[in-house]
Amino acid sequence: MSQSPKLFIFDLDGVITDTAEFHYLAWKKLAEELGVTFDRQFNEQLKGISRMESLERILALNPALSLTEEDKEQRAHDKNEYYKNLIASIDGEHTLPGIENLLKEIQGSGIKIALGSASKNASMVLEKLGLTNYFNYIVDAAKVSKGKPDPETFTTAADTLGIAYSDCIGVEDAAAGVEAINKAGMFSVGVGSSDHLAAADYIVEDTAKLNFEEIVRQYVSWKGKP
Ligand code: BG6
Ligand code: MG
Repeated sequence: MSQSPKLFIFDLDGVITDTAEFHYLAWKKLAEELGVTFDRQFNEQLKGISRMESLERILALNPALSLTEEDKEQRAHDKNEYYKNLIASIDGEHTLPGIENLLKEIQGSGIKIALGSASKNASMVLEKLGLTNYFNYIVDAAKVSKGKPDPETFTTAADTLGIAYSDCIGVEDAAAGVEAINKAGMFSVGVGSSDHLAAADYIVEDTAKLNFEEIVRQYVSWKGKP
């Protein structure tokens, strides 16, 4: 079974739990304070992107805004406070449909599992969901120097666990994340609309459609390609 995957690397926000919505609401509130408005279409560009880079992209919407570095740090801090308020009461009920079963199946078949998140809040969120024990390794914003779409988040997980990149499957809801997985030479699974995730090797509409056997089937056929 040398064709079988050896490691699944999951993005957190928007794949394991719907915290992507909370990031959106928190950025929206912050942006309104800055007199900037943005919609869900623009928000797609913020998915998977670090806190500071997200702030820079929002500030770029209004070139008349000129913030000092200190002010930027304060705004990023404010956004994180709004976000932390929104996630204060999340628990296992907030794990997206099908995810815990999928983690159980992967673990049960002896395949390793890692987290590949751009969030500094990742470990805390995973703990609140009660899912930490499924993960062999956690890569968060503190462990990488280059965020998505750079592949470092995904390659760090594979390198640490000693697994070849072509034996890995990455699961993402963000275009930047799919790009990172592809650049790492791993099999990419996109969760969401093909409008944003067309570059993924395999796309499902939502987490309920993430079927372990089908993902492995798709992976094996990808790996077998010349
Ligand atoms: C990513 C989210 O997982 O983490 C982004 O998709 C978010 O929306 C980024 O900005 C950074 O998160 P945090 O929790 O460190 O601000
Ligand atoms: Mg995400």
